[in-house]
Amino acid sequence: MERDDINVLWQKATTATDEAVMDFLAGSDVVLDRALFEFDIRASRAHAEGLARVGILSQADADALCERLDALEAAWHAGEFLLDERFEDGHSAIEHWLVSELGEVGGRIHTGRSRNDQVAVAVRLYLKDRLQRVAESAGAVARVCLDRAAQEAERPMPGHTHLQQAMPSSLGLWWAGHAEAFIDDLALVCHIRDWLDASPLGTASGFGVNIALDRQGAADALGFDRLVINPQAAQNSRGKVELRAIDALSSVTGDIRRLCWDLSLYASQEFGYVTIPDAFCTGSSIMPNKHNPDGVELLRSMHATVVGARAELEAVLSLPSGYQRDLQDTKAPVLRAFGRPLDGLALLPRLLDGLRWDFERMAEAVGASLHATDVANEAVRDGATFRAAYRMVADDLAALEQRSAIDSIAARTSPGACGALMLETLEARLRHWLPPAD
Ligand code: ARG
Repeated sequence: MERDDINVLWQKATTATDEAVMDFLAGSDVVLDRALFEFDIRASRAHAEGLARVGILSQADADALCERLDALEAAWHAGEFLLDERFEDGHSAIEHWLVSELGEVGGRIHTGRSRNDQVAVAVRLYLKDRLQRVAESAGAVARVCLDRAAQEAERPMPGHTHLQQAMPSSLGLWWAGHAEAFIDDLALVCHIRDWLDASPLGTASGFGVNIALDRQGAADALGFDRLVINPQAAQNSRGKVELRAIDALSSVTGDIRRLCWDLSLYASQEFGYVTIPDAFCTGSSIMPNKHNPDGVELLRSMHATVVGARAELEAVLSLPSGYQRDLQDTKAPVLRAFGRPLDGLALLPRLLDGLRWDFERMAEAVGASLHATDVANEAVRDGATFRAAYRMVADDLAALEQRSAIDSIAARTSPGACGALMLETLEARLRHWLPPAD
């Protein structure tokens, strides 16, 4: 079946269509709509039920539409219904299905709605779903980091600034530092998920309709927290909500980039602190000796996908109020951002779980000079000003003796530091954002 054989929704006797132009306008839109299809079907059900509540549809017609929408969803998941270039987009495909299954009753589904609010509501449902997944994964990453922080709290390692050895630090501080970053990301993702939890369904093309739609009832049925009230605001928020969702995601992928940078550095032969689990490594096609941490590196580069998608999306949004077809081009970057990076994110807890540290090598790397700040602070405790103590230590760095790194990190009791990691506080924050699994 060609697209020509299926009525394009807006086709009129007077419409002139050109195949090449049509192809250009459609682009890969219908293929992108695959990611939104189940949400579009769900919203169509809520819309049909809403129409029945205000007497626009008979209950029998609404029931028939919902039953056929259920069947479409089942056929879609079973791979029996194909969303492809035969249709202009996913919205047209739904209406085409309903008309071919129910005849003229199917032609009633589009009462009081437009593809403009249809796509907007589907995108919001999609983003809520994906941000929930991001939240779960970020929470799982934070969970591993916190557990390992507790288990490996007392393992000394050099702390670096400028990639130069600085002070004795601990693996506990390293893990807890990443845990806190992911807890903050989780909070941001949850905020943004709640922020965009508003239903644009029933705002139609951007001006409402002359039917007293039960918008609130439809929003409740779809699990939205509230309505986008103004139809113009609904249209103008398209792209804007996606942008904020990508921002929240980029907070996570940015932190993954940094974490993975640490790991690839620590896994190098020069450091030799950590071994990356085999499942995340590959070999070389030419060098038989190689064991490359490709998994770490591709997790690191995911951030580029997200940041690139954000830039592309932002560039589309230079638009006046209301619906513009440009908005169609917001979909590809959003789907790209929430595509592969989510797969990578879901793998990260497993990678972290499998890390094996060389505790001895890390402790041995803590040389005498790293104790300089501790020695200066001890002189302060004995009455010297910090500046005088600093100079005294700086003037004779060679006199610094090797000390116990374990004692050094245990004595670092300023809140949050190696000797007082405050893991319970981080744990409480994590629990606040991530309800414990039952
Ligand atoms: N594919 C379109 C989009 O993503 C759907 C809305 C079409 N609306 C219209 N007035 N042509 O924006």
